[in-house]
Amino acid sequence: MKRSIVIAITGASGAIYATRTLAALLERECHIELVVSEYGRRLLRDELGDAAAIDKLMDYLAATYGEGVRAGTYMLHSNKDLGAKIASGSQDCDAMVIVPCSMKTLAGVAHGLSRNLVERAADVMLKERRPLIILPRETPMSLPQLKNMVLCAEAGAMLMPAMPAFYQMPKTLDDLADFMAGKVLGALGFKHELYPAWKG
Ligand SMILES: Cc1cc2nc3c(=O)[nH]c(=O)nc-3n(C[C@H](O)[C@H](O)[C@H](O)COP(=O)(O)O)c2cc1C
Repeated sequence: MKRSIVIAITGASGAIYATRTLAALLERECHIELVVSEYGRRLLRDELGDAAAIDKLMDYLAATYGEGVRAGTYMLHSNKDLGAKIASGSQDCDAMVIVPCSMKTLAGVAHGLSRNLVERAADVMLKERRPLIILPRETPMSLPQLKNMVLCAEAGAMLMPAMPAFYQMPKTLDDLADFMAGKVLGALGFKHELYPAWKG
């Protein structure tokens, strides 16, 4: 059965993690409910160039990762639209990933603020006890930021800091993005070969 997954992109550095994760899920014929914060949109352009602007995203993904991404579909929501279907517990998405997650959004999720669609959709996942995967990125981290990660973990989220490993001998930035996207896919229950498994 085709899986529906919420992907949120917020204004933390690491837009490439978002595009790689999106592409890998689309290649697997997923339907993505996509919501991108204002600063998430800015980071896509600042870090990946104008070609990755949100209105051209599918073409960017196809040009960067291959035409296979067109096997999937996505619906883009406004972050201001608290009436979108993913703002309700009756929606049918089986998981949500915030990639990358800013410290502001992390705080909003930790405290159940639901100030925008990203925060509300995350709140829905937690209250419905569905998987919520958060890839926070910041360094160094303040005590409130660390505590916000603990609050999210206590509420049931999986905290997956954007910290790619180096044992797979990465040669390019794409190798690092593949590692994080592979971690997300694994957590969502997909088999993948985005990075070589450690053989011991
Ligand atoms: C180029 C750039 C890089 C940023 N990188 C980070 C980051 O890595 N982590 C973070 O928490 N905030 C970062 N910020 C700040 C957030 O974008 C800012 O706090 C914003 O209000 C987050 O809002 P959002 O969570 O709604 O996207 C960055 C901002 C810019 C412009």
